[in-house]
Amino acid sequence: MSQTELERGIGEVLVEEEALRARVAELGEEISNDYAGRDLLLVGVLKGAVFFMADLMRQLTVPCEVDFMAISSYGAASDSSGVVRILKDLDIPLDGRHVLVVEDIIDSGLTLSYLMRNLRARQPASLEVCALLTKPGRREIDVPVRYIGFEIPNRFVVGYGLDYAERYRNLPYVGVLQEEVEAGATKQ
Ligand code: IMP
Ligand code: MG
Repeated sequence: MSQTELERGIGEVLVEEEALRARVAELGEEISNDYAGRDLLLVGVLKGAVFFMADLMRQLTVPCEVDFMAISSYGAASDSSGVVRILKDLDIPLDGRHVLVVEDIIDSGLTLSYLMRNLRARQPASLEVCALLTKPGRREIDVPVRYIGFEIPNRFVVGYGLDYAERYRNLPYVGVLQEEVEAGATKQ
């Protein structure tokens, strides 16, 4: 298969487009069953989760609403401190709502852990997490994640919403950066 300009930095495909599609459909079915008859609000964390969330939402057969937050983590990009600044808050109040946080990837878990504390304080009726990817080997803090798409090894991945310096989000699959690019990514 010929490589596009976008694909030149990609060393290896980790999760194919078809595998993503199939897993998102399964998650959609599971979430639809679990939330039947409840008032679901999906909360997405900008920007990476947008792509997964848009596909997941179209697999849900229960009525739901969406809202977004933008956060920025203090400190170096690849070394999450877990101290998070809210750049854009939710528009919709959470009290009494069944909230499902949709995340692209959980690495150390520090960002999500902070976010969950913040959201829990707003007294939702329930609060769960759905993450497309998780790197269990990198976890520093235990965060309960109800729905997981794929467990992946400790590699820096891009595509399907995930970026390296804001690039590669538009790749239709999840791939690993070529080693020379990845060396830059971990130092970032
Ligand atoms: P945590 O606080 O260490 O769990 O950081 C999670 C955030 O780091 C994610 O929401 C991503 O923005 C970013 N991140 C972690 N690993 C990767 C990766 O492999 N590729 C792209 N972004 C990543
Ligand atoms: Mg990012």
